[in-house]
Amino acid sequence: MKLIAGNSNPTLAKEISEYLDIPLAKCTVRRFADQEIFVEIQENIRGEDVFVLQSTSYPANDHLMELLIIMDAARRASARRITAVVPYFGYARQDRKPSARTPISAKLVANLITEAGADRVLTLDLHAGQIQGFFDIPTDNLFSAPIFARDIRARLPDGKIMVVSPDVGGVVRARAVAKRVDAQLAIVDKRRDRPGESEVMNIIGDVEGYDCFLVDDIVDSGGTLCNAAEALLQEGANSVTAYITHGVLSGGAVARVTASKLKELVITDSIQPSSAVASASNIRAIPIATLIGEAISRTSLEKSVSSLFD
Ligand code: R5P
Repeated sequence: MKLIAGNSNPTLAKEISEYLDIPLAKCTVRRFADQEIFVEIQENIRGEDVFVLQSTSYPANDHLMELLIIMDAARRASARRITAVVPYFGYARQDRKPSARTPISAKLVANLITEAGADRVLTLDLHAGQIQGFFDIPTDNLFSAPIFARDIRARLPDGKIMVVSPDVGGVVRARAVAKRVDAQLAIVDKRRDRPGESEVMNIIGDVEGYDCFLVDDIVDSGGTLCNAAEALLQEGANSVTAYITHGVLSGGAVARVTASKLKELVITDSIQPSSAVASASNIRAIPIATLIGEAISRTSLEKSVSSLFD
């Protein structure tokens, strides 16, 4: 087996390589003066089971191109099988046409990954499970629910707890955590009745007196999260903690979360935490190298990956 890492998340790549006890393959990924990407794999990978580690996180387009070009290099170097290991699959939110004459970019990106040479894909908490169907190659979608549930159980408050989905689309994901921590489920229903009118947040479920745990796949601007936390507190929740897999945290998101009434935002390191994230007082990142490393190992040994979640 060979592990090749792009530049998106060197810390996670190193931890995965340590877990598997396999060094990262020597590979240069550099830029020409005009920012074109050049890749050179500096060791023999002929006939190898190759895993390319790369989140398509900020800068999303550069990291996506790196992933594609590394896979092209691996294919042309006669790798036996190539697995694109994409802990954060960017463009996933564009998984349908929200209005006329718009793209389905998640499908386009899936086509690009396949065309570049991937035989398999390994990813984590896809924005929508159906995106697996955008690939015509085997795609394993890992879940952070067991990791989040373990963390919640280790820090259980004295009072009653409630798991909350910040929107209707995230109910399945939140329910998976609720079941594991034996909690009830509430849902934030966001409505904007007319364009230009402010969003109304209705809470489905009685959260008064509960310590709430918001569960979601992505925190980007932090708007969804902070608004949901505010609405829960207004409805009488004791506290609000959030467990969100992918800490995209663009623009002023870190400042927004820090200034919010959130007790804590817990993310994974599917996206390399920035220095602002690392030093934020109420943001904590849980490592996922063990989960990804184990899934890589099982893939290589042709063992079950789904049984990781039994
Ligand atoms: C939306 O469907 C997603 O699950 C997230 O809730 C959303 O992408 C978060 O974005 P933001 O932090 O910008 O509100």
